[in-house]
Amino acid sequence: MADRIAEEKIDQIRQAVDVVEVISDYVQLKKQGRNYFGLCPFHGESTPSFSVSPDKQIYHCFGCGAGGNVFSFLMELEGISFQEAAVKLAAKVNIDLDINLPSANGGKKVSKELQSMLDAHELLRKFYHHLLVNTNEGQHALEYLLNRGFTQESIDKFQIGYSLNSWDFVHKFLAKRDFSPESMEKAGLIIKRERDGTYFDRFRDRIMFPIFDRHGNTIAFSGRSLGADEPKYLNSPETAIFNKSKILYNYHLAKPSIKKLQHAVLFEGFADCIAADRSGVENGIATMGTSLTDEHISLLRQSIQSITICYDSDKAGIEAAYRAGNHLHEAGFQLRVAMMPDGQDPDEYIKKNGPDKFRQEVIGASLTWMAFKFLYFRRGKNLQFEGDRLSYIEVIIKEISKLNKAVERDHYLRQLAAEFSLSLEALQQQQKQMFFDEKRKSNGKNEIFHKPIVMAKPVEELKPAHYTAERCLIAHMLKSRDVAYKVQELLAGETFNSDEHQAIITYLLAFYEDHLELDTSAFLIYLQDDNLRRMVATIEMMSINDEVSDQELTDYIKQVLNYQKMLKIKEKEVELKEAERQSDFGKAAAIGLEINQLRKLL
Ligand code: UTP
Ligand code: MN
Repeated sequence: MADRIAEEKIDQIRQAVDVVEVISDYVQLKKQGRNYFGLCPFHGESTPSFSVSPDKQIYHCFGCGAGGNVFSFLMELEGISFQEAAVKLAAKVNIDLDINLPSANGGKKVSKELQSMLDAHELLRKFYHHLLVNTNEGQHALEYLLNRGFTQESIDKFQIGYSLNSWDFVHKFLAKRDFSPESMEKAGLIIKRERDGTYFDRFRDRIMFPIFDRHGNTIAFSGRSLGADEPKYLNSPETAIFNKSKILYNYHLAKPSIKKLQHAVLFEGFADCIAADRSGVENGIATMGTSLTDEHISLLRQSIQSITICYDSDKAGIEAAYRAGNHLHEAGFQLRVAMMPDGQDPDEYIKKNGPDKFRQEVIGASLTWMAFKFLYFRRGKNLQFEGDRLSYIEVIIKEISKLNKAVERDHYLRQLAAEFSLSLEALQQQQKQMFFDEKRKSNGKNEIFHKPIVMAKPVEELKPAHYTAERCLIAHMLKSRDVAYKVQELLAGETFNSDEHQAIITYLLAFYEDHLELDTSAFLIYLQDDNLRRMVATIEMMSINDEVSDQELTDYIKQVLNYQKMLKIKEKEVELKEAERQSDFGKAAAIGLEINQLRKLL
């Protein structure tokens, strides 16, 4: 078996895969003209500036500049090597590679130590589960769970377990199997005693919830105490394999359902997530006792645009829902918020009212984001009092001002008018007033106010003429081998002003030595430099004419070369000044002559 993939195989893969199809697994794409557009998975945005070209088999983001072909897409998004990306793609299109890569873990190369951390977690997950379901030691824990309404089925599905009431069972268990205590400490499974350097188990006498990454590897645990022991949930610390702010509980199990329904339900706790799953809500996920991070959001964005928040309906839960909601709303998600009566959490609600009621009256009756905010701002106010009423109306009008669509603004203003018996005209006027005040205050910088819903336009800075000319030349050179050679001739040994551009054409000319035509995606593989790849993807996305006349080429070249002459003139002008300062008039006259000659060449 080979340990490198042959070039012909790479070519075969490149020709067989479709960039649109691959990217669609991660980004929702909509066709517009020849290209597809969506929200960029590489940076946070709420208007799509990410485009994919099926013709050129490349992608490009006008917002952050990411760009490349199907290989670089997987490499960047999944953090894997070129070879690993090739293996993934080959599997997708059933190309047999017959290759021997270092053991793959979700496509990621892992070091020996990481692998041993993963192995220990895997082993313990099975062992904890066994203790819970099959042993006397775990009997009381199992009873606790069953009493709480957990079923045998969900205990298996979520691989829930029990950790023994022992200070060193896990330590010994792992040591016996040749796991080094140092690594196991780094993995967060055991803790070192300061005083004598001995180790003890982190999790003792707790219900163990394994935490899986999105490939299904066990990477951490959360242990719930059975009684009133604090903390209620003890989590693994942050380790080389576990980063709380990137992990969503249950994402690996929920993913198929999330994709199918194009929707996820976000919970605050694991218990809620598991109870919801038991009720038939299988697209539930939960954060790990932290607030929702940008990383969570970009993970979600890979599969969906719509989310229901279902947090505890107590004060803290409602505040947390408001914060998470704002975050998701700004990231462009369609949002709903599901509420339960008087301070309950989803798990308690389901236990009390059953799964059907939960699905219908909580998830099914969830509020729009705006309706939730109506409720949110009402809390703690007594609308019988004029002062409270006026301040509530003002906050709501402010919220309405943030809505993009006139129809929506109208809808909510009418609702407000009806509820408080106010004149619609007065509300409309106040809303407009508020909108302009905000706009003035923020100097037009506040993006929340009337974000354009049209496609984000490329925010290209104004580039100097020579820079643009170089890009146009490269664009034409990418299209035709003849043009590439013609440009080389016209340059007559001079170079482009931008080093990157020069590097691109150097590669390009070399590429044309053995290829009659350029396939963009193949050229990107050939380039091997991320920055240059990105630039080529950007240039490929420029709209230029199919044909270019010799006159146009000459004009572009002139702009490129003029810049160099201008620099030279500037240089000479400095020399001229210096000569004049030193009263060396002979030299000054000579330089003046040179400058004139250079000017004539422009
Ligand atoms: P909750 O206190 O709401 O717990 O914490 P819960 O989900 O209702 O759990 P039960 O029903 O009492 O068993 C919600 C989430 O906050 C995190 C956990 O992720 C939990 O699922 N948390 C809570 C901790 O990490 N540590 C704690 O001590 C408590
Ligand atoms: Mn609970």
